[in-house]
Amino acid sequence: MLLGIDIGTGGTRAVLVDRAGRVVASAASEHAPIRSEHIGWAEQQPEDWWRAAREAIAGAISSAELDGAQIHAVALTGQMHGCVMLDAAGEVLRPALIWCDQRTQPECDWLNSTIGPARLIELTCNPALPNFTLTKLLWVRKHQPEIFARIAHVLCPKDYVRYRLTGEFAIDMQEASGTLLLDVAHRRWSAEVAEAAGIPISWLPSLFEGPEICARISDTGAAATGFAAGTPVAAGAGDQGAGAVGMGLVAPGSVSATIGTSGVVFAATDQPTLDRLGRLHTFCHAVPGMWHVMGVTNGAGLSLRWLRDTFAPGVSYDELTSEAAKIPAASDGMLWAPYLFGERTPHLDPDARAAFVGITASHTRAHFVRAVMEGVAFSLRDTLSLFAELEIPVSQIRLGGGGARGPLWRQIQADVYGRPVELLVAEEGGAFGAALLAGVAVGAWPSVQAACAETVHVAQTIPPNDAAAMEAAYTRYRRVYPALTEIGRS
Ligand code: XUL
Repeated sequence: MLLGIDIGTGGTRAVLVDRAGRVVASAASEHAPIRSEHIGWAEQQPEDWWRAAREAIAGAISSAELDGAQIHAVALTGQMHGCVMLDAAGEVLRPALIWCDQRTQPECDWLNSTIGPARLIELTCNPALPNFTLTKLLWVRKHQPEIFARIAHVLCPKDYVRYRLTGEFAIDMQEASGTLLLDVAHRRWSAEVAEAAGIPISWLPSLFEGPEICARISDTGAAATGFAAGTPVAAGAGDQGAGAVGMGLVAPGSVSATIGTSGVVFAATDQPTLDRLGRLHTFCHAVPGMWHVMGVTNGAGLSLRWLRDTFAPGVSYDELTSEAAKIPAASDGMLWAPYLFGERTPHLDPDARAAFVGITASHTRAHFVRAVMEGVAFSLRDTLSLFAELEIPVSQIRLGGGGARGPLWRQIQADVYGRPVELLVAEEGGAFGAALLAGVAVGAWPSVQAACAETVHVAQTIPPNDAAAMEAAYTRYRRVYPALTEIGRS
């Protein structure tokens, strides 16, 4: 039996998977709400993740009526980029700054002026973004020097839970890519970036490939969870990497479009393809010897939720989307630019603002719903347009998250992407992908590719139906952001 643990943002989920790749049991535990002392700040307590992990692990083991010794390997996944700071005794020094904390633009500016934006992309394959771990560490140096002076170890969220389980400081290549301290092309820490930023390499955990055993459950880890001491722990991957494994995106050309709160378009690649303008993230994949690129839309599922909560509170998504399904493709000329929380890909503009364009008196609530769903898909298509520009191959697009659940958003995506989209038999998320990595680490499958071939299956392929109308609407959509920039914001 294999166990994957996903330390998400809202909660932690543990999934037990057998050696045939079947989900046997799962359990979840919520996290305390994100602490936000000022607008744009986001912090969580590492101790709370550890509490939730213990509860989720114990819940999964007991609901499967297993003995901890029947679990042969464990792997972790979780929210990426967070910065956990520990002293020499392994004690947490302050709450972690997490991935969506936006306070560190000045630190990004400092990195750009110290290292140079082009050189930073050459060294790490990525630009300085407030999401990335290094910028959070630099904020603490500037604003809390007394805490910075006591740092001995820096970890990402799931790797802190690993530390509590095993006593080891370890990280996988995919997660490490999101720290801005990894030489992503060569899969090693970047001594040059660390030195230029003034961060001792000794603070950073040891690097492993996703399906590699990096540690074993310690006696204290065993006592806290019910695992047997000595159980192997594989490195795992950040949520995007493990989620991609769970969706079978393990060959060049495999692409996913996942609409959750945010939206991610992910492509597996056999080389580190970098965008010199930094509009895509270029990370090591959880698959050894592979990389991936991804583009992120900040306000994806969030757009629909905002529309519902603001203008149709209490109305179900099913009701709203079945109304919207009666509206023709391209929403009779209405467009939605989904920049409710600024935008990452392709604009890298935290100050971007959302807009409806082209409203007439004959538009109804259903038009607004459909326009929002289309606008989100256009914004994901922007990442696919970047893939085309950078000659990143796309042979199939698999849908994930809320965008895969209802018929309307699936069809809108096939039409907007202008190609067939695939639905999986089951989408179990990152914890399932982590369990597959754990299985590869202990020889249940010879490779990540073999694990996916055996366990991930396509249920349905949906062809485009109205691609021409959507192509014309996408051409108009592309003109909205420049116009909004010109108008400016107050
Ligand atoms: C990835 C990213 C999110 C977080 C939280 O770059 O920012 O996926 O990992 O889920």
